[in-house]
Amino acid sequence: MIVLGIETSCDECSAAVVRDGREILSNVIATQIELHKPYQGVVPELASRLHTEWISQVVKAALDKAGLENSDLDAVAVSNRPGLLGSLLVGVNFAKSFAYALGIPVIGIDHIRAHLYASQIETPLEYPYLGVLVSGGHTVICRVDGYDEIEVLGTTIDDAIGEAFDKVAKFYDLGYPGGVVIDRLSRNGDSMAFLFPGPSLNRQEHPYDMSYSGLKTGVINQLDKFRNGNAEATDENIAASFQRAAVGILMKRVKAALNDTGLKRVSAGGGVAANSLLRSELRELEKCGYTVTFPSLKLCTDNGAMVAGLAYRYLCDGYRDDVHLSASARVAAFKKC
Ligand code: KG4
Ligand code: ZN
Repeated sequence: MIVLGIETSCDECSAAVVRDGREILSNVIATQIELHKPYQGVVPELASRLHTEWISQVVKAALDKAGLENSDLDAVAVSNRPGLLGSLLVGVNFAKSFAYALGIPVIGIDHIRAHLYASQIETPLEYPYLGVLVSGGHTVICRVDGYDEIEVLGTTIDDAIGEAFDKVAKFYDLGYPGGVVIDRLSRNGDSMAFLFPGPSLNRQEHPYDMSYSGLKTGVINQLDKFRNGNAEATDENIAASFQRAAVGILMKRVKAALNDTGLKRVSAGGGVAANSLLRSELRELEKCGYTVTFPSLKLCTDNGAMVAGLAYRYLCDGYRDDVHLSASARVAAFKKC
């Protein structure tokens, strides 16, 4: 089964062709990063306008790269929630028209689930496992019992981890996109230069919940102090110290959840799963007997292949959408469709 996967939920315009849910024949990602850079963040109206201009070419490029014709496709899958509504609608309307014209099924895919599933495309992992979804909009620790069986164990109660990376980078004028820049700067920094405390959440009923707004504000509040003659406060040291604290908040909950649930496998996904410190700290778990997987870097951030990969599972189980498929900015409940 050959599935075209379309992803336009934020600032990446992506289309991929995946055979039988595993073989990525193409994964074209046209990024808008340079066009949002002057604003140090994604401008929703600009994002949707660019998707409208680019989508046909991106889909054509994905088919060309795969060496296929439109008529070779068996289904079209598209991220239809959550995300920027205007951007999602571009992908959804394109996907519906394209599928309708070809007389093949269309299916809407939850972007968050696609991130969680991405590692399964390259490195299949037996269920159940602990899922760690870390992106610009979400931070979720969950128990995954199947591609569609996800139970949330903990989540951020305020900012997402990627949002904290992006905001700190923005306030310190480190560059854009923030997560990538902080990761790069950290390699030459001393992560012990500054101690940024993590949250002291007293949430006994939700022990795996996290908070990132306190850390983010704590780091931002030191801006004047750091920028006025503190020799230790290099960009590299601030980045490395912040990154250590941000990853530490997550890893503490991941380890507690693994311990309490008895799960022996863990898999991460989402843009922040590209972070080098997080990847190495997760890898460390292997020394304690856990099996750890995460996607290759290209499948961490937004991409069409993860959409097509997960869609394959749903399609095999008979799920289909129709012309009534619509988009939603909001997160769906993590229960069966
Ligand atoms: O999954 P994604 O592409 O889009 C969302 O669904 O949000 O994630 C984007 C987020 C941004 O916050 C970006 O700064 C972060 O992922 N990110 C990183 C790294 N690469 C991307 N954060 C930390 N380290 C990285 N290497
Ligand atoms: Zn994403």
